[in-house]
Amino acid sequence: MRYALIAALIAAPTLSMAGPAEDTVAARQGFYKLLGANMGVLAGMAQGKMDYDSAKAQTAADNMVVLTTYNGAHLFAPGTSSEDVKGARALPKIWEDFPGVQAKAADFQAAVKAMQEVAGSGQAEMTAALGPLGGTCKACHSNYRAD
Ligand code: HEC
Repeated sequence: MRYALIAALIAAPTLSMAGPAEDTVAARQGFYKLLGANMGVLAGMAQGKMDYDSAKAQTAADNMVVLTTYNGAHLFAPGTSSEDVKGARALPKIWEDFPGVQAKAADFQAAVKAMQEVAGSGQAEMTAALGPLGGTCKACHSNYRAD
């Protein structure tokens, strides 16, 4: 009984805070976390923190290509910027400059495709593609993501 009450008291503020905007931000951040997790595999191998494994590198690159085919328009619903939702880092500028964001996304997609071509070919080939790919992440983040 007492535990149920405590649980209800703890849950109540959380429930009142969570809403569609918060859910959208969580989904958006989850999407980028997936990108980051696959990027982490490639970066770890490039830096020698883990042994280069051709199959694992190829899988990470393939996963990222799959993510580029995801239509993420709903992840950028209005009212979900860093000024609207606590913890969100997507700058309001995104909603004022969709063509600019799309250009960054296109650069990123091209770099992911280039990575897919070489990820399984060897550590040196993969590492050579990693710099340009990472650069496309950074180019979007430095323009459209809060620090
Ligand atoms: C077209 C723009 C764009 C590109 C390209 C992009 N990102 Fe992001 N990324 C964002 C935005 C915007 C956010 C902030 C989302 C939020 O918090 O609202 C973000 C957030 C993140 C986060 C934090 C997620 C979290 O836990 O909150 C990670 C990790 C990340 N990106 C990794 C990457 C990696 C790795 C790449 C490249 C392989 C990449 N991103 C490419 C726009 C981009």
